[in-house]
Amino acid sequence: MRLLVLGGTEFLSQAVAADGVRRGHDVVCAARGVTGPVPEGARLVKVDRDAPGSVDVLAGERFDAVVDVAKMSYPWVRDALAAVGATAGHWTFVSTVNVYADTATATDELLEPLAEPPAEIPDDKLAEVYGAIKVASENAVRDAVGDRAFIVRPGLITGARDATDRFGYWVARFARGGRVLVPDEPAQPIQHVDVVALAKWIVDSAEQRTTGTFDATGPVLELGDLLREVAALVAPEGTELAAVAPADLTGAGVNPWSGPKSLPFWAPKTHYGVVTRDASAAWGAGLGIRPLGGTVQDALDTERRLGTDRERKAGLTPGQEAALLADLPQRAW
Ligand SMILES: NC(=O)c1ccc[n+]([C@@H]2O[C@H](COP(=O)([O-])OP(=O)(O)OC[C@H]3O[C@@H](n4cnc5c(N)ncnc54)[C@H](OP(=O)(O)O)[C@@H]3O)[C@@H](O)[C@H]2O)c1
Repeated sequence: MRLLVLGGTEFLSQAVAADGVRRGHDVVCAARGVTGPVPEGARLVKVDRDAPGSVDVLAGERFDAVVDVAKMSYPWVRDALAAVGATAGHWTFVSTVNVYADTATATDELLEPLAEPPAEIPDDKLAEVYGAIKVASENAVRDAVGDRAFIVRPGLITGARDATDRFGYWVARFARGGRVLVPDEPAQPIQHVDVVALAKWIVDSAEQRTTGTFDATGPVLELGDLLREVAALVAPEGTELAAVAPADLTGAGVNPWSGPKSLPFWAPKTHYGVVTRDASAAWGAGLGIRPLGGTVQDALDTERRLGTDRERKAGLTPGQEAALLADLPQRAW
């Protein structure tokens, strides 16, 4: 199969390209090539999707399958469809569970179709428009290649090469040991999908020409179980889990979910809808659930490669954690 990956140098798209190469497919990656190398055996075509007409270099080429991971840009999606959509045999668009209008409860009601979002969106507005841009992008894919379209809406993605620093925070933190601050919300729902399992399903679906729209994530877990399981896999003997009440964390300026001074995966109730999706249709269509041990090992390898004392995009610094533990009441988990 001739597979075009629009990306291929970083996280999910890198895993898709690597899986395609492993299966003996002819894999072409279209990216700037600045975030990392494409997997060995794949060919990089340098494009900058911010530059109008850049993907036209691919026009006229025929691909059996295309995988587009465009995160936050409707024009990227539209231009790729215009360049190679007409002749592509199968088209995967990687969307997100954030497309749902109500992020607090798991409904299946889509946002109303949107007008074309603006090309320029201020950085501080990105989170607000993320789901809306994905809806517009999904609709562009359906309009152009509807009968060949495979729309994948992942939940939190975990495992190797995760650039968000979220799941990796917990793996690296437990591996360091000592007293680990955790949010005292053990029954909070949480869902994630391993990047290798997701990539495998995307390549399987391209081979099998699976079409349709799927929420793509794992089973609903409880945060307490997930964190304890990660700790059991990597924490040295004597590690303690010190649970601090959510109100105390919020009062001390700790953010849930992601970003600086945060406890990743701690979800505010406004996010419960994106961590309680019914993904059984995806499992029925072949999305596998990888045992946690493999995901954790891959995340730990990534953390060690990147350096666990680096400045993180998400989590607490050791200094922040120590100050919070010194100040706030806590109970042992
Ligand atoms: N991470 C999550 O937990 C999560 C959850 C739900 C959904 N998703 C969705 O999953 C998809 C994959 O996300 P990811 O973080 O895993 O991304 P990714 O696969 O790492 O893909 C990013 C790719 O885009 C390329 N790229 C960036 N800027 C570019 C430009 N100007 N021109 C051409 N290529 C460019 C990068 O290559 P270069 O930088 O080398 O150009 C890289 O290969 C996204 O659609 C995201 O919305 C992610």
